Amino acid sequence: MGTCFSSEFDEQHSFQTKPGEIQPSSTKNALKTPPKQTILDSPNIRSPSSLVVITKDVKDLRQSPGYSNLDIFTYDEMRMATKLFRPDQVLGEGGFGVVYKGVIDENVRAGYAKTEVAVKELDPEGIQGDREWLAEVNYLGQLQHPNLVKLIGYCCEEDHRLLVYEYMASGSLEKHLFRRVCATLTWSRRMKIALDAAKGLAFLHDAERPIIYRDFKTSNILLDADFNAKLSDFGLAKDGPMGDQTHVSTRVMGTYGYAAPEYVMSGHLTARSDIYGFGVVLLEMLIGRRAMDKSRPSREHNLVEWARPLLVHNKKLVRILDPRMEGQYSSKTAIKVAGLAYQCLSQNPKGRPVMSQVVETLESVQTRDLLQEEVLFQSGSRSVTLFEAADSKKMDTQVKGGGENEA
Ligand SMILES: Nc1ncnc2c1ncn2[C@@H]1O[C@H](COP(=O)(O)OP(=O)(O)OP(=O)(O)O)[C@@H](O)[C@H]1O
Ligand SMILES: [Mg+2]
Repeated sequence: MGTCFSSEFDEQHSFQTKPGEIQPSSTKNALKTPPKQTILDSPNIRSPSSLVVITKDVKDLRQSPGYSNLDIFTYDEMRMATKLFRPDQVLGEGGFGVVYKGVIDENVRAGYAKTEVAVKELDPEGIQGDREWLAEVNYLGQLQHPNLVKLIGYCCEEDHRLLVYEYMASGSLEKHLFRRVCATLTWSRRMKIALDAAKGLAFLHDAERPIIYRDFKTSNILLDADFNAKLSDFGLAKDGPMGDQTHVSTRVMGTYGYAAPEYVMSGHLTARSDIYGFGVVLLEMLIGRRAMDKSRPSREHNLVEWARPLLVHNKKLVRILDPRMEGQYSSKTAIKVAGLAYQCLSQNPKGRPVMSQVVETLESVQTRDLLQEEVLFQSGSRSVTLFEAADSKKMDTQVKGGGENEA
């Protein structure tokens, strides 16, 4: 996996195969198809079963105010909000372009309540373009759920393409799992993040016409100040199969290490491809290693190939779980979550659970009192008792020594 097709992106960022390599289907044209369904314009969370996303193109979005819950900003307003795109406002950079921290307030637009935002500016020289920008506006303009990042508005003045999101104060899961020095996420926080992200995906998959997210990875899972997780980046999202269709045919797009093997081989996309990506992220959270890591011995480069077979051997499992979480989980719970990751990573798409089953399993392993646990970690006591909710409602307890874990 990850080597059988040519990539236009680097390993951490989304890739797409060269056009023609795999039977292409033009997303751009699909996006321009006139809407067949009613426009969904209520800003409330929609019941997934009644949700059908319609699409608008750049011309539509310039002429009308777009979706009623989105604001259209001018480029000058974006400059003001980001202090002239000052380098010290940069939050990160991906395949789409640079992401800036910003504030929209009275000074930017009269009467606007002060709102912290993240402003993503399309790099005109970059690989992604109008297609991804449009997909983002069309999907996030209509989808609302507590586990999807909120799109506040956009700017499409002349050649400028910007997206304005709610600001996610704690940044990406990738940052916390792999980049933060001397810190780690506790077992409970990881499980809560996994559940939040699973709920976001389940919402997409349960729509009347399922939506396939296609870019599930740690950098696209953002965390707010309270560490609630939300999915961001709908640039690669795609309407799933309808009626008798078993799959949709697409160019292969996604990120190395996360794309499902059958999708990479055939270009046939189903919701089960997202479940494989979810399995990769769950594995990264369990093991504390990146999906692809060339700095490891060669047999451990690809996390799934190396770790998946070990997930179902209880003794081996204990040895590969992220040592930064030692003492924070019961073996029963760890075995259950590892079993879930194993299933999600099945080579056979039909062997993977559906997202609602994933949510159910993760709900059953949530720590009963996360807050209490975090307080105990913060207290730094040498020996604290942690509580985990077991399915039986019986509390499992474990004793943890040391107090160097972050809260
Ligand atoms: N709404 C947001 N709030 C706070 N930080 C954000 C927000 N959106 C993005 N970021 C930051 O910007 C970084 C870059 O995001 P971006 O989605 O452009 O790239 P990526 O996810 O790293 O790669 P890719 O282009 O493959 O998606 C993120 O890792 C995150 O740290
Ligand atoms: Mg991203």
